Amino acid sequence: MSLFKTKSVDQLQASAESSGLKRVLGSFDLILLGIGAIIGAGIFSTLGDAAAGAGGTLGAGPALVVSFLLLGVVCGLAGLCYAELTALIPVAGSAYTYAYATLGELIAWIIGWDLILEYAVGNVYVAIRWSGYFMSVVEPFGIHLPFWISNGYGDVVEQIGTAQKAGDIAKATLLQGQMAAAPHFFGIPILVNLPAFVIVALITWLLVIGIKESARANNIMVVVKLLVLALFVGVGFFHINTENWHPFAPNGWQGIHQGAAIVFFAYIGFDAVSTAAEETKNPQRSMPIGILGSLAICTAIYMLVGLVATGIVKYTELKAMDPLAHALSVIGLPKVEFIVALGAMVSMSAVLLVFQLGQPRIFFSMSRDGLLPKVFAKVHPRYHTPHVTTIATGVLVAVAAAVMDDDLTINLTNIGTLFAFAIVCLGVIVLRITQPNRPRPFRCPMVWLVAPVGIAACVYTMTGLEASAWLRFGIWLAVGIVIYAFYGYRKSTLRAESQR
Ligand code: ALA
Repeated sequence: MSLFKTKSVDQLQASAESSGLKRVLGSFDLILLGIGAIIGAGIFSTLGDAAAGAGGTLGAGPALVVSFLLLGVVCGLAGLCYAELTALIPVAGSAYTYAYATLGELIAWIIGWDLILEYAVGNVYVAIRWSGYFMSVVEPFGIHLPFWISNGYGDVVEQIGTAQKAGDIAKATLLQGQMAAAPHFFGIPILVNLPAFVIVALITWLLVIGIKESARANNIMVVVKLLVLALFVGVGFFHINTENWHPFAPNGWQGIHQGAAIVFFAYIGFDAVSTAAEETKNPQRSMPIGILGSLAICTAIYMLVGLVATGIVKYTELKAMDPLAHALSVIGLPKVEFIVALGAMVSMSAVLLVFQLGQPRIFFSMSRDGLLPKVFAKVHPRYHTPHVTTIATGVLVAVAAAVMDDDLTINLTNIGTLFAFAIVCLGVIVLRITQPNRPRPFRCPMVWLVAPVGIAACVYTMTGLEASAWLRFGIWLAVGIVIYAFYGYRKSTLRAESQR
């Protein structure tokens, strides 16, 4: 039974009071933090796969705007549940902490482990896509990085496999030749994505020196991303050809569903706001405003961008690494294309920043609870940031981004995040039943409808992903449970206290 022992809300609130983190962020900072996390690789890059289809999944076509709207609703349901729990338990650690308070230690560990998929693995994807944009931005200046320092090993292997499957022998042979030409170390070709590595390293450094500085850098980047998307919509609007919107839903409901499962990545991030709860001045009020405000703003922006993107070119044209910039190039606007590409880089940097900020704070909470080594809970005496976990996360993400494949990471991130959202909705229901009288600074409206529908909607969105994503997710969770059995179960602070 002790596997399901929960941490009391009072205990959680007490540990937040003594954490040593500084309370400096207000509602406005949080909305900007949310937009910083939400708008990034999803809208600037994944949008193309969602519209035109990718791998084994069908695209939504112009009906992408319906996918966006539905996802806004799904995330809104989860967002309301997040807001209730965050206001009640304003402690770093997000869904992990809520699960600890409601569903017990084992589920909390599983969620903490699962959140690595959302934060760290998600950032691996963003860093790789950032690097793609970086190379297209420096190209007009005559800068061409050698193949071996601009492509990760995993990515090249995946591209060769895809080319062979598609019968594109010329491309496969070319890539194999480039692989053979790369420097070798003990017979292994060295293929690293250096720009992806460097951007993660820079962001990690920024995060170590202080949260207020990080929030300030984020605010500037958010302004840039909003301006660039406004430019895209504003300029694109005058180039819309309504014929491109026919057929509106070329693959019917299946396309809308599978497109949504991919482009769900674009929404991830509103929940990251909750990880800054211990650094927020008035979390009871600011948290719900931050989460729901950023979500609503982004849903509106995405629908507009989706309409314009599928209106200026045929949706099949969007199948590119940089669909928005590419669409502008197709209609002959190279200058705007360059600005949008630059804006995409800035946007993704902001996403990297917020997620690199969130992941260490989850590790920090898990370590404080004894589920991870204690050294992860150290706070820097001068900078007041959890520097050990920040650097550990930085190294992990930078190295993975340097050698891994982006397609593999995105599906895993989406499925893991949707799972965490469903657990948060469940957590709200459990706490309403077990502690109905606890004062709730923010109450989710119509909770008996919102939370169950939220769970169903998250699970339904998950079913739009390929079978391979489910398999990898299952393996990831199994590995996590084994680690818990050998480490967390023995070292848990909560269990030690209850046995005293
Ligand atoms: N929503 C974030 C992005 O699109 C993760 O990059």
